[in-house]
Amino acid sequence: TASAELRELLLAHIRDVPDYPEPGVVFKDITPLLADAKAFGALVDALAALCVERGATKVVGLEARGFILAAPAAARAGLGFVPVRKAGKLPGDTHGQAYQLEYGTAEIEVHADAFDPDDRVLVIDDVLATGGTAEASLELVRRTGAALAGVAVLMELTFLGGRERLVPALGNAPLDAL
Ligand code: PRP
Repeated sequence: TASAELRELLLAHIRDVPDYPEPGVVFKDITPLLADAKAFGALVDALAALCVERGATKVVGLEARGFILAAPAAARAGLGFVPVRKAGKLPGDTHGQAYQLEYGTAEIEVHADAFDPDDRVLVIDDVLATGGTAEASLELVRRTGAALAGVAVLMELTFLGGRERLVPALGNAPLDAL
């Protein structure tokens, strides 16, 4: 999705950390990107442009790293931000959705009244890996009754098959990976 120039800038600031969080895994660390004013600004600009392009009226960020990208992108696009949080963190009435991790399960929640019925929601996260987190978040959006504008991530780990897993939940909505 991103221009070659933006892609280079972003890739230059993502650090590979071998054997984290466990042996054999190469962790993609975005903290150097967040710490670089030019790269972080360009990323937020690109995500804000996608919000507009996809016709979003609300922006969802997925805890925790999704918050760091989604909130400034929403503000820059002139849109409101909605957190999807790990279970037990939101104070109001929620919808919850469990999903499979490599070992065990996790659950995420959204406030049941987070959206208006005519909202179009863009979901933003840092990484699409197996797609379990994003898939669960799309089920949450569906249950609120709001429409889906799309999913946008900084990075897609294509070898983990997340895009294929998301196809049914996405319907006609696009998945953009910068
Ligand atoms: C990471 C990442 C995505 C998710 C991707 O979050 O930020 O949300 O995993 O993995 P998946 O596509 O296989 O579901 P994590 O659960 O580590 O939470 P954090 O952002 O709070 O560290």
